[in-house]
Amino acid sequence: MSEALLRAEKLCKEFPSGGGVVRVLQGVDLTIAAGEMVAVIGPSGAGKSTLLHLLGALDSPTSGALYFCGKAIFSLSIAARAEYRNRAVGFVWQRHHLLPDFTAAENVAMPLLVNGTDREEASRQAADWLAKVGLASRAAHAAGTLSGGEQQRAAMARALVAGPRLLLADEPTGDLDESNSDAVFALLQRLQREHGLTAVMATHNRELAGRCDRVLVLERGCLVPRGAGNGPPGQGNIG
Ligand SMILES: Nc1ncnc2c1ncn2[C@@H]1O[C@H](COP(=O)(O)OP(=O)(O)O)[C@@H](O)[C@H]1O
Ligand SMILES: [Mg+2]
Repeated sequence: MSEALLRAEKLCKEFPSGGGVVRVLQGVDLTIAAGEMVAVIGPSGAGKSTLLHLLGALDSPTSGALYFCGKAIFSLSIAARAEYRNRAVGFVWQRHHLLPDFTAAENVAMPLLVNGTDREEASRQAADWLAKVGLASRAAHAAGTLSGGEQQRAAMARALVAGPRLLLADEPTGDLDESNSDAVFALLQRLQREHGLTAVMATHNRELAGRCDRVLVLERGCLVPRGAGNGPPGQGNIG
């Protein structure tokens, strides 16, 4: 296996709750090789989203460390951490978060414009990515008029257009029916392989999780390989 791209060491995350705290992550250890696709499963409220937020530096841990290509992300300056978030990581969420009144192409071009790419180049790359996700013919359509599956595919193009090495997907098929869910996952996996991306996908769907290179279960605040914990066996949706 190739070198670790991402490594988490004893990540803990607590949130204030009432007068006390809720301990969501209680020492997550994780090593992900470059090019690997890892599924994180666990019931609703287990802390999957909390973990992905930390892996993408959208939030800071209560304690613990995260290394990307050997660099300690939470020891970086605020500006360098933002650079990691904006350049190294692409996010796909359960809800697409596209701007509904802007076209698919404008939505996909946005991360490039934010990164300082000129308008013409951004449009060209957005068009390329819309073609890769099978939406060339929808480029000029307002995002709000696309179907759920199309919106999630546009969201994938937006996540990947700026060339991140790490893709974080939080229940990316959670809002879709079975056939769209299957198609969106298949596309995600194809793009992950073709572009040599490293991916972490949180999902409720054990069948899709089983198609990833590795499945980890978040239980009692820690990540364990599937089969090692006491979670319920079986197929289908959990939580
Ligand atoms: N910002 C927050 N403030 C307080 N509690 C939070 C916050 N974010 C998440 N939590 C709590 O952390 C736990 C895990 O949430 P989450 O990471 O969203 O789980 P999952 O994605 O596995 O469903 C839940 O109990 C949730 O209520
Ligand atoms: Mg969640």
